[in-house]
Amino acid sequence: MCGIIGFTGKLDAKEVLLEGLKTLEYRGYDSAGIAFVTDGGIKTIKRKGKVDNLYNTVKEESNDVTTCGIGHTRWATHGGVSDINSHPHTAGKVTLIHNGIIENYQELQAELETKGKKPISQTDTEIAAMVINDLYDGNPINTIKKADEVLHGAYGFCIMFEDFPGEIYCIRNGSPLVAGICDDGAVIASDVVALIKYTKDYFVLPEHQIAKLTPDKITVMDLDGNELCPEMLHVSWDIAAARKGGYDYFMLKEIHEQPEALRNTILPRVKNGMPDFTTDGISDDLFTDCNRIIIAGCGTAMHAGLVGKNMIEKLIRVPVSVEIASEFRYADPIVDEKTLLITISQSGETADTLAALRLAKEKGAKTLSIVNVKGSSIARESDYVLYTHAGPEIAVASTKAYTVQLACIYLTAFRMAIAKKCISDAEVKELVACLMKTIEDVEKILKYDKQIETIAHMLDKAEDLFFIGRGLDYALSCEGSIKLKEISYIHSEAYAAGELKHGTISLITDNVPCIALATQEHVYAKMISNVQEVRSRGAGVILITNAGVTVDAALCDHQIILPKMDDRFAPFGAAVVLQYIAYYAAVSRGLNVDQPRNLAKSVTVE
Ligand code: M6R
Repeated sequence: MCGIIGFTGKLDAKEVLLEGLKTLEYRGYDSAGIAFVTDGGIKTIKRKGKVDNLYNTVKEESNDVTTCGIGHTRWATHGGVSDINSHPHTAGKVTLIHNGIIENYQELQAELETKGKKPISQTDTEIAAMVINDLYDGNPINTIKKADEVLHGAYGFCIMFEDFPGEIYCIRNGSPLVAGICDDGAVIASDVVALIKYTKDYFVLPEHQIAKLTPDKITVMDLDGNELCPEMLHVSWDIAAARKGGYDYFMLKEIHEQPEALRNTILPRVKNGMPDFTTDGISDDLFTDCNRIIIAGCGTAMHAGLVGKNMIEKLIRVPVSVEIASEFRYADPIVDEKTLLITISQSGETADTLAALRLAKEKGAKTLSIVNVKGSSIARESDYVLYTHAGPEIAVASTKAYTVQLACIYLTAFRMAIAKKCISDAEVKELVACLMKTIEDVEKILKYDKQIETIAHMLDKAEDLFFIGRGLDYALSCEGSIKLKEISYIHSEAYAAGELKHGTISLITDNVPCIALATQEHVYAKMISNVQEVRSRGAGVILITNAGVTVDAALCDHQIILPKMDDRFAPFGAAVVLQYIAYYAAVSRGLNVDQPRNLAKSVTVE
């Protein structure tokens, strides 16, 4: 949440910052601002609205030449969306940008007010700037050390001190910050997508350590000023991966990247037809010992867990519970040394998922995370990591990250079954072959775009709808529903098809369409009866089935038929259909698919 960038070096800093903010805009787009060093001191320009708005304002209002500055794109938490609440915030000699929430800001504000110091905005961030300015003793490191003691909550700060032009000081707790150096200068950002134009080598700033950026160097220090050497990481993808590449939206591009993402995630983990985690450094001991598995995540990542539960339980007969991370942490969960916690997260920074991980570790669980972003907090704090290799996911709506998360959980389930000796080699090989086949199935489904674009018009006037399914199709319905809601703003609910008649079917009318998934043969007949129930109450129906089933034409308005897939792997195909439905429904309504209202990509606040 919130995008942060800082640059000092030889380049035009305004350009670096504005371009960086454009790349980071998916992290929050309520407002944007930059502050930069000029001969006359630090100048700030900030505006509510999108980065383009800021861009135009900067062009109109500033001819300044500058090589050092900070920039921010905001997802509002404390204080409404306004120019004044936008970042950067200045107090005295301190100008800063912030990603996170200062939890004790009211207490700190009260203290400042006893000294006659009043904020002009409604933000926790301005209070942080005022606190740092209040503590400022002419030495940025000492000052930040003292501030780190009094500020509570999550923060990633980039701070400029008026007395130190050309230098940027950064510290974080929870919120991400990555930095790198190139011939043209030093750059820091909340996400590697903003660094990649300048360098592919970067480091994650460790928590409670200070990075000092000067034009030719980044010095990392502990709070006492001792120099440290953080581990360097390398980005394997290219700048093109973080651009739209001719697609109208990142979401559409990312839907299309799924075959490659699946290939990159699955193939390196298959040796002689068997699942192999050797290069991930995960030995079977992790799985032999556990007698209880918990999968925790948020939103789409949690939905991937719902599908994964099914496969794991079927193969190893160990109970798996799938937990919403924000609930898990406050539920006094039953976790012990025999528990394996699997966290799933694209960003690896989701605050609730990270908190769930920390709690489970405290209680003695072993932890494995399935994460897309290298070096992210969840990856670093887990005992073991399986990286999904989806490349950067920029659209707020998660697509390719979901299918590769499924791939990783399936591979984990297969490996668990081997470790627990519940499966023969031949059976595992068959499962792995099915998993690999999903790549070509997804390729085929990507060609359904025109058909689904037409079908999606059926939702043009819909205000409410239901996704229904049984078993794996119910897990998929949850994902279909969130995708549609977040980008098309059509209210929808995912329902276990058999549960509708216990109350919810009263909501079905001829204005409430149903998207029905019927890909699971063992419950197919039951599912079709449920479709008939909604049909006879007037619902328009889009029916998604596996290949080889013929349905009565009267049962649905449209049938979308997957290529023949093993039922257990149908979620990979059905997911793409549901992504397309959400995408085209949103496009048809003229909405900004990549930046849906009120949302941001990486949720680093609780
Ligand atoms: O980065 P994470 O995978 O931890 O994010 C979790 C959710 O915030 C995310 O999946 C969200 O639900 C998506 N925007 C849904 O498309």
